[in-house]
Amino acid sequence: MTEPISQFEERKRDHIALALKKENEALGQTGLAEILLKHEALPELDFKDIEIKTTILGEVRQTPFLVSSMTAGHAASKGINTRIARACAVQGWLMGVGSQRRELFDSEAKDEWRLLRASAPTVKLLGNLGLTQAIYTSTDKIKELVDTLEAIAMIIHLNPLQESLQPEGTPNFRGGLKRLTELSRELSVPVVVKETGCGFSIGTLRKLKETGIAAVDVSGYGGTHWGRIEGQRSGNESVQAEASLSFSNWGVNTRDCLMAAAEVSSNYEVWASGGIRSGLDAAKTVALGAKAIGFAKPMLQAAMVGEDFLLKKMMVIEHEFKTALFCTGCQNPVEFFHKKVWKWQHQTT
Ligand SMILES: Cc1cc2nc3c(=O)[nH]c(=O)nc-3n(C[C@H](O)[C@H](O)[C@H](O)COP(=O)(O)O)c2cc1C
Repeated sequence: MTEPISQFEERKRDHIALALKKENEALGQTGLAEILLKHEALPELDFKDIEIKTTILGEVRQTPFLVSSMTAGHAASKGINTRIARACAVQGWLMGVGSQRRELFDSEAKDEWRLLRASAPTVKLLGNLGLTQAIYTSTDKIKELVDTLEAIAMIIHLNPLQESLQPEGTPNFRGGLKRLTELSRELSVPVVVKETGCGFSIGTLRKLKETGIAAVDVSGYGGTHWGRIEGQRSGNESVQAEASLSFSNWGVNTRDCLMAAAEVSSNYEVWASGGIRSGLDAAKTVALGAKAIGFAKPMLQAAMVGEDFLLKKMMVIEHEFKTALFCTGCQNPVEFFHKKVWKWQHQTT
């Protein structure tokens, strides 16, 4: 179950480089373009009174935003992660760390995470591990991952498409539902289940209701696409590369995931990610029921430029989000959700 560290690091480096390529993003496919917010010309509000504080996992947070879990585990990612952690601490965003898988077989990885924590002592971190690892890893070991980070929650990610197209993938999800139920019971922090860009069907969202998990981050189709990325990684001649072509548009878009979650009346929080590229996109997901909103690729791109650039990007997103609330006459996200200020307009092509 272990793999050479050099192979691990190379994969993580490839992932960052390939995720930044435009063709590996399902741009414009989130379905959010068809959600229209209703303009209110007379909002009876002062913009400065718009409040974006939100309760997430039972605690009031400064904003509803998070930087979604992203790769760690090689030299270049340390700088990226530190910049993201520091910016999240300043802006009051949550930060999902990338998969902590390496920590299961390499003791040095623990020190990297400790340094990250030390570089931003006040940031609220979310741990991360793939379900395929969580199935065979003891709860005590997963507790250690939480403790190293002093994480406020543990994210377990689901990525069946990626695992089946990755040459060194581990596509075994047998026993996954039971493991999620155990972890929800046994960990001292809330468990969040997320996809990685292919979303959730209504059937899966229903199954998750029985597990006791605290939140589902839908991470729907419309943004970074791991079928495309792994296809490119595996080399032109490989079976996986050819097979990946049939799956380059695979997934449930972010809008449909959120609508399915509303229909299921989930007993867990619903978070949105997958192709969210602005504060306006984020507002649309809140209108559809999302409590928290995650950004991955845009934050990676900004963090690669520098910390100030990243901070500015976060401020722009917050300003766009507040503008959507203001121009629909709502003072805060709760009012915005309850007022139902949106309509679904099918686009004709
Ligand atoms: C470089 C990179 C690495 C990622 N690594 C992880 C990971 O380790 N764990 C995880 O749950 N998701 C991972 N993701 C998926 C994101 O958290 C997110 O679900 C997905 O990229 C969709 O969001 P986006 O369209 O905003 O990029 C990664 C994404 C990127 C771009």
